[in-house]
Amino acid sequence: MTTEITDSAPTALIDRFGRRITYLRISVTDRCDFRCVYCVEPDQRFAPRDQLLSLEEIAQVARTFVGLGVRKVRLTGGEPLVRRNVLWLMREVASLSGLDELVITTNGARLAELAAQIRAAGVRRINISLDSLRPERFRRITRKGDLAAVLRGIDAALAAGFERIKLNAVILKHRNHDEILDLVQFAVNQGINISFIEEMPVGQIGEHDRAQVFYSSDRIRSDLRSRFQLVPTTETTGGPARYYRVPGTETRVGFISPHSHNFCSDCNRVRVTAQGRLLPCLGQEQALDLRHILREHPEDETKLSQAIRDAMQHKPKGHEFGRGADSVLLRHMNITGG
Ligand code: GTP
Ligand code: 5AD
Ligand code: SF4
Repeated sequence: MTTEITDSAPTALIDRFGRRITYLRISVTDRCDFRCVYCVEPDQRFAPRDQLLSLEEIAQVARTFVGLGVRKVRLTGGEPLVRRNVLWLMREVASLSGLDELVITTNGARLAELAAQIRAAGVRRINISLDSLRPERFRRITRKGDLAAVLRGIDAALAAGFERIKLNAVILKHRNHDEILDLVQFAVNQGINISFIEEMPVGQIGEHDRAQVFYSSDRIRSDLRSRFQLVPTTETTGGPARYYRVPGTETRVGFISPHSHNFCSDCNRVRVTAQGRLLPCLGQEQALDLRHILREHPEDETKLSQAIRDAMQHKPKGHEFGRGADSVLLRHMNITGG
C-alpha cells in the first residue's frame, strides 16, 4: 500500500521546519447531504455559491500545486459528490502530469450511482466514512444519513475496482465505541481497510461536549485485541494514520490520533477550502485567500505559484488541539475538508 510518495520526492514546497509538502487536500464544496454530529451544526449555513471557486479555478489550483511538486491530491468536502460536474474536475486533476494519485473522501451516500464513473475518471483510492452499522444509530450520528444507501455505495465501490478502499470511523464514547469490533469485522469481511479517528475540536458544536466523548486510539486498540491480532506495520498512504495488519486478512487497521499521537512533525499536506482559502494547517485559523489572487491575475499563474510558495514559510509547527472548549477552532470540518 506504500505509495510512490517518498521523503525524497522533489518539491518546491518545503516549509521552515524542513517538511516537504507533497499532498494537497481540496474541499470542492462545503455543502453536504449529511450533518454528522461531530462535524457540523444541524442548521449550518453554507457559503453563497458565488463565493465558491469554480471547477476551472479548482483545476488551476491543483495544476499549480502539482507544478510545484505536489504528488497526491485528495478531493474532499463537505461531500465532494454533491458538487455538480465533479467528475469533470476528477478527470482534469487525474490527468495532470507529475501527479501520482488522485484520491477522494466521501460519505458514500451517492456512491452506488457514481462509483464506476469516479473510478473511470482516474480516482485510484477512495475513503468512505462509516461510523455505525446500525441503521438508527447511523441516522442519529449523521442526522440525515441512510445506512442502506451507504452500504450499497460500498458495494459499488468494491465492484468498481478501486486500488484500495478505506473506511473512516470517528469513535465517540457511549455513541459508537461498542461497535469497534463489528466495524473491523465488516472491513475484514469486505477485504478493505479501516481507520479509527479521534474526534478533533474543529468547529464549535452544541450536540455534545467533545471532552466527554473522547475515546483514545489506545483504548480502541485494546478493545480490538480481544478478537483480532494487530501487527504494527510501517506501511503508509502518505496520510496521518498508523497502520496495523490483521494477519490472515486483507485488512489494515489505521489509527488517526491527533490527541494521543500527534503527527504534526511529519506533516506533508496543506488544504484549500471551497472558497479558495489556503490553510497551511488543519488545526490553525491562519489562511491565504487564493481566490482573490486567481481572480486578480487570471492569466498569470506565476502570481498564484509565488503566493503558494510564500505561504509555505508560514506553515505553523502544528495544531494545539486540547480537549477543552477553549481550544476550539471556529471553522467547521465541512469547510476544512477533514
Ligand atoms: P489517506 O491516508 O490518504 O487514506 O487519507 P487520510 O486518512 O489522510 O484522509 P481522510 O480524508 O480519510 O481523513 C481521515 C481523517 O484524518 C480526517 O478526520 C482528517 O481530518 C484527518 N486528517 C488528515 N490530515 C490531517 C492532519 O494533517 N491533521 C489532523 N489533525 N488530522 C488530519
Ligand atoms: N473530528 C474528527 N474527524 C472528523 N471528521 C469530520 N469532522 C471530524 C472531527 N471533528 C471526519 C469525517 C470524515 C473525514 C473527512 O473527517 O468522519 O471521515
Ligand atoms: Fe458531511 Fe463528512 Fe461532515 Fe458528515 S463528516 S457532515 S458526511 S462533511
